[in-house]
Amino acid sequence: MHIPVSLITGASSGLGRALALELAAQGHWVVACARSHDALWQLAEQPNAHGRILPCVMDMTDVAHIQQVLATVQQRFGHVDNLILNAGSCEYVDVNALDLALFRRLFELNFFAQLQMIQAFMPLLKASHQPLLALVSSLAHVFPFSKNQAYGASKAAISYFADSLRVDCPELTVQLIEPGFVDTPLTQKNQFSMPFLLSAEDAARRMAKALQQRQLRLQFPTRLVLTLRLLNCLPYGLRQRVAKALGRQS
Ligand SMILES: NC(=O)c1ccc[n+]([C@@H]2O[C@H](COP(=O)([O-])OP(=O)(O)OC[C@H]3O[C@@H](n4cnc5c(N)ncnc54)[C@H](OP(=O)(O)O)[C@@H]3O)[C@@H](O)[C@H]2O)c1
Repeated sequence: MHIPVSLITGASSGLGRALALELAAQGHWVVACARSHDALWQLAEQPNAHGRILPCVMDMTDVAHIQQVLATVQQRFGHVDNLILNAGSCEYVDVNALDLALFRRLFELNFFAQLQMIQAFMPLLKASHQPLLALVSSLAHVFPFSKNQAYGASKAAISYFADSLRVDCPELTVQLIEPGFVDTPLTQKNQFSMPFLLSAEDAARRMAKALQQRQLRLQFPTRLVLTLRLLNCLPYGLRQRVAKALGRQS
């Protein structure tokens, strides 16, 4: 029986951690990557990890770390069926004191590090009979949210990249995941109200199902997706006024 090999970045907390446990429960081998050694080892030792989670410490912005993990996975499995690029971070912008270093930090992780991973792992993905690359973006880029200039732009970049990559790589299933608000350390810093907030476990179940069904795009939760689609149907000026009004509340 074929046991799928899934590599997940950002597996030390939030969505990535919950997805690692979900896929391990479904019988996958899970290569769990992040920078936090202790959190990864604790994850691997969870009873519901079923001994199928392999922790790999890696800073995704460091090519040498990526090469180390690549060598480990090559030696242990020889291929990767599902490359799930989930690690990311969010910081908010003060437009009155534009901080370019903040923009560079976010793009370095949310965009360029993803490309580094794809470049490094493509040969192992191609060694799979059914390769799938999942890129975790966000609904944050589909509407102009306040203070979201850097995070939203970095996620818009990765979403566009995913859709465009799919055009040129017919042999690879490129899956784009665009979640709404999920309760994780990333959103626990937010001081504004987050409509239709989901638990990380709920989000992970949706992601695992989409993975199994090889869905090309997963946007959730539906109520937020539909609300944003409606807002995007408004005339441009009115849409901007709504964005401003929402921004004043945050
Ligand atoms: N939570 C939401 O509402 C939401 C909504 C839409 C999209 N997303 C996206 O979902 C993904 C996961 O977010 P989350 O909410 O689960 O956040 P989280 O709990 O903060 O998890 C982020 C993960 O990324 C890892 N990470 C950060 N910098 C890294 C680096 N340089 N190298 C390797 N790993 C790194 C972190 O681990 P270490 O610190 O141990 O490295 C952590 O495991 C992100 O891409 C985020 O943008 C989240």
